[in-house]
Amino acid sequence: MDLVKRYKDDVACIIVTPFHHPAFGDQVLPAPSFFADLRRICDENGIVLALDDVRAGFRLSMHGSHAYFGFSPDLTCFSKAIANGYTLSACLGKAALKAAASRVFFTGSFFGGAVEMAAALATLDELERRDAIAHMMKMGTMLQDGLKELARARGLEVVVSGPPTIPYMRFANETNFRRMQRFSGEAARRGVIFHPHHNWFMMEAHKEEDIRQALDVADKCFEVVKKEFGG
Ligand SMILES: Cc1ncc(COP(=O)(O)O)c(C=O)c1O
Repeated sequence: MDLVKRYKDDVACIIVTPFHHPAFGDQVLPAPSFFADLRRICDENGIVLALDDVRAGFRLSMHGSHAYFGFSPDLTCFSKAIANGYTLSACLGKAALKAAASRVFFTGSFFGGAVEMAAALATLDELERRDAIAHMMKMGTMLQDGLKELARARGLEVVVSGPPTIPYMRFANETNFRRMQRFSGEAARRGVIFHPHHNWFMMEAHKEEDIRQALDVADKCFEVVKKEFGG
């Protein structure tokens, strides 16, 4: 709010992600009133509220992550999950912005990519048909809870952050990520990727058996970290 006041009439748009998902850090979910306050500030000051849902889109809600957090952006960008890895992105906006958008000349060689469009349609149908987000939430919760429990049992302190479908873990008592890099390296050698510095992604293909396997591997890697770093 301070910045909006300081730059009054100079702010055209505020772009936010649905939650804070930095690299090299814990993920932070929004405070309960964050989006309601932001929406009000934008409305009161004639500012367009844009949601960068490139990373979280279709992992929290089929209707965009704003539906999950209960607010209404003016513009939303999707990519990544929208076509299950096919190269597609989409920007959706409220009707009031259509006229302005139509005055912007914007084109691209692959705008008519039929394969990507077909992939997106099929992806969205399948995500809905399989109730994929509910499944990914369940698998992600199993993974997050399992990691916390295994670390505790080995006397290690970890911070598990983010929504279950986009989890991340790091060791609490370090800032140089040495334990985390060791943990990840050991896991990769055993066939499981836990990115050391970037959030992870659950997908519909992850089944209970996969999570159990990942947790088995994690337990062995916790053992290595405990032995080498002592806590
Ligand atoms: C939240 C977020 N926004 C935007 C981007 C960039 O997307 P693109 O490479 O399609 O421009 C990324 C890429 O990882 C992202 O995670």
